[in-house]
Amino acid sequence: MKKLAELTNKEIINLLSRQAHVELQSSFLYLQYAYWFDNNNFEGIGKFFKAESEEERKHSVQIFDYLNVRGVQVAIDPQQTAFSNLKTHFEKPGDYFEAYLAREHLNYSLLDQIGKQAQQTEEILTHKFIGSMLEDQASSVDEAEKLYAKAQAYSAFPGLFYHLDAQIKKGSQSFDTWKAKQS
Ligand SMILES: [Fe+2]
Repeated sequence: MKKLAELTNKEIINLLSRQAHVELQSSFLYLQYAYWFDNNNFEGIGKFFKAESEEERKHSVQIFDYLNVRGVQVAIDPQQTAFSNLKTHFEKPGDYFEAYLAREHLNYSLLDQIGKQAQQTEEILTHKFIGSMLEDQASSVDEAEKLYAKAQAYSAFPGLFYHLDAQIKKGSQSFDTWKAKQS
């Protein structure tokens, strides 16, 4: 028997499933970034990208969980999380922040598209769900923009990047403290 809140809109299901895989791909990508920074002795930035990787994995599970409660059988497809032609390694530390910002922008626009599609098809629950993810994504983009601007400024002298590393190390601690208070 069809459940009351069962999600039947195939296009919305596909978009949500696709997005959950994109989030998982971001998680792997940021983990890859983290180990480049670790390997180059930027341990603050390494820690930052590991935390970002965790965040993206949480987003992925959040969407899969949403599909599940709406009665959709979740199917994990590792092929959709493959890096394929996605660039994973860069020459300079600043380039990683540029790629990170681009990825956060991409995520914002993908969520925005799903939200608009949900609105058009009057998929109210999905519209509400994606709306709250979009709010979080807006602050992620904001954060990424600030970091990118700093990274650009510090890129002029490679040695200065260690100052950014130290700042992020301090910053991520205060961010952790802030997050702990939210839950
Ligand atoms: Fe995300």
